[in-house]
Amino acid sequence: MIYYKTEEEIELIRESSLLVGKTLAEVAKLIRPGISTITLDKVAEEYIRDFGAIPGFKGYKGYKYTLCISINEQVVHGLPGKRKLLEGDIVSIDCGVLKNDYYGDSAYTFAVGKVKEDVRMLMERTKASLYKGIEIAVVGKRVGDIGHAIQSFVESFRYSVVRDLVGHGLGKNLHEKPEVPNYGKRGTGPKLKKGMVLAIEPMINMGTKNVIQEKDGWTIRTSDMKPSAHYEHNVAIRHGETEILSTFKFIEEIIDKK
Ligand code: MF3
Ligand code: CO
Repeated sequence: MIYYKTEEEIELIRESSLLVGKTLAEVAKLIRPGISTITLDKVAEEYIRDFGAIPGFKGYKGYKYTLCISINEQVVHGLPGKRKLLEGDIVSIDCGVLKNDYYGDSAYTFAVGKVKEDVRMLMERTKASLYKGIEIAVVGKRVGDIGHAIQSFVESFRYSVVRDLVGHGLGKNLHEKPEVPNYGKRGTGPKLKKGMVLAIEPMINMGTKNVIQEKDGWTIRTSDMKPSAHYEHNVAIRHGETEILSTFKFIEEIIDKK
């Protein structure tokens, strides 16, 4: 079943989503060639706990970390570890927090130093596709309209949409109904209603849409080893204009300073 949120609940989700945005900005400060991904995870966990919140992914289905850190051909659910970031990598960092009983869940793909032009374009257009999806997500539209907006935009660049993982409702649970695919047909799927809170999170591949799971049991990567990008916002469904509860503002202030 779909849980519709009151304005008070939406405020609490906003607070959690905001903390995720600030945590990702703390992580952004440290992104450079040579840093290990476990270091980023440690910094994120400490930052979240300093605000009286709990890392939202830790313990979820046995997951052991605060962040999912996915490099280059890794799509999502990459495990923090000893691996160091290298100049030219792209790194997707997904973070969740639980605060006042409500989750926030947001992700951003970062460049490590200077990345190849075609990869930079993939990142930029994946982020743009997220906003295409958000823009259409208003009362009266359907979940399929979100997927269609994202899919038609990215396929115009001959990128592909990952099918095996989807966005989701968000609230007292990290994952709630409805599922929010990043592909779809206009006018199909559940109707968007006031009080729905969704995590919209396009995962877009430069090559094939097909993905496989690595032997660690978590990491999802492209089957052709071409790069993938991932951005995620939490939004509240409203009449007229979608409200974005999470933020990239703090992250982008750090990126712009670098
Ligand atoms: N951020 C993922 C999502 O948006 C969830 C991470 S799965 C976990 O659905 F196990 F790592 F928590
Ligand atoms: Co999510």
